[in-house]
Amino acid sequence: MQITRKVTDDLYWVGANEHRLHLFENIHPLPTGVSYNAYLLLDEKTVLFDTVDWSSARQFLENIEYVLNGRPLDYLLINHLEPDHAASIDEILVRHPETQVISNEKAFMLMHQFGFHIDGENKQIEVKEGDTFSFGKHTVTFVAAPMVHWPEAMVTLDVTNGVLFSADAFGTFNSIDGHLFADEVDFWSPYWLDEARRYLVNIVGKYGPHIQALLAKAGTVLDKIKFVCPLHGPVWRADENLLKFIGLYDKWSRYEPEENGILIIYASMYGNTEAAAMNLASKLSERGFNNYKVYDVSKTHVSYLISETFRYSHVALMSVTYNLGIFPPMHDYLYDMKALNLQKRTFAVVENGSWAPKAGDLIEEYLTQELKEMTVLSGRVTVNSSVNESSDRELAELAETLIDSVNEA
Ligand code: FEO
Repeated sequence: MQITRKVTDDLYWVGANEHRLHLFENIHPLPTGVSYNAYLLLDEKTVLFDTVDWSSARQFLENIEYVLNGRPLDYLLINHLEPDHAASIDEILVRHPETQVISNEKAFMLMHQFGFHIDGENKQIEVKEGDTFSFGKHTVTFVAAPMVHWPEAMVTLDVTNGVLFSADAFGTFNSIDGHLFADEVDFWSPYWLDEARRYLVNIVGKYGPHIQALLAKAGTVLDKIKFVCPLHGPVWRADENLLKFIGLYDKWSRYEPEENGILIIYASMYGNTEAAAMNLASKLSERGFNNYKVYDVSKTHVSYLISETFRYSHVALMSVTYNLGIFPPMHDYLYDMKALNLQKRTFAVVENGSWAPKAGDLIEEYLTQELKEMTVLSGRVTVNSSVNESSDRELAELAETLIDSVNEA
């Protein structure tokens, strides 16, 4: 049975919701699913904007045939070639041999690398930034969006009705289920906003300058945009909520924190470093500071830690020493910060070691030498096996230092 929604009078959402996949890109948890969005325009010509992951092809194909209602599919327009959106290209072309594929040079190169069967030159219509293409009433223009999220990525603006097909940009994790528009859900609730942030910073976070470049291009046509149709998550109408979301994209892609607050991230083998983390947290609260969160690196997928680190200004890293090094999950977290180009944060460091504490030196070295524009506060605390009176006093001083720094930020 078809499951479709109208975006405008002649534009339909024909995507699918994914609930079975546990890991997006086989790495990021999807506890609340994800949607693969595709859109079908019924003009004098019919145009399908992108496809879906192979796992969702059945629903997608049913949706397309329902909306086409016997019409041929004239064009398949590909904005982004990553297989979560492109894997069903072959299936479309098998069912619709009449379809011509519109995309750019890099995308066609990747289509051939992935082994899609776009046989015959007359099947391919190559476009580049600034080109226009008419389907009847609707004329679209193409804007390159390299590295948001792959080099071939582009976005397409329907200049007739102001629909921006934004590819991965403005996407979110979470299946949309029956909802289509962002104003049909409580988007600023943690359920949506946390997953929007986790999606953006883990998938495209490394490419902040490229997001900035796309935002700059979008800024020149902002008054013409009436809808934003991403490849994941809800569709946006041009209202104050879209502007707020664009503002967050701007912040995230500049690596600026959303709020002044503290993350306490601890790595503990037997509970003693964990106790130090609880100690520090209670000292913050005793001093009236409550905008902090505490996470165990061993129990929290690093994509959530990265997302929270994009959100907050300050991080207290508290790690046991392990094999004379940093506890491996803490090391993974630091590595992900580097991989995703995270910068401009302030850290406090607490180490634990029973005979040769090393984690503190190594963490500080990583922060200052491997990452960009990171500040490490003075007053590192060394715990020898478990917190004693001396380290308890030092944790109290560190709590004061952290609060002062947050208040000055
Ligand atoms: Fe949702 Fe870069 O693909």
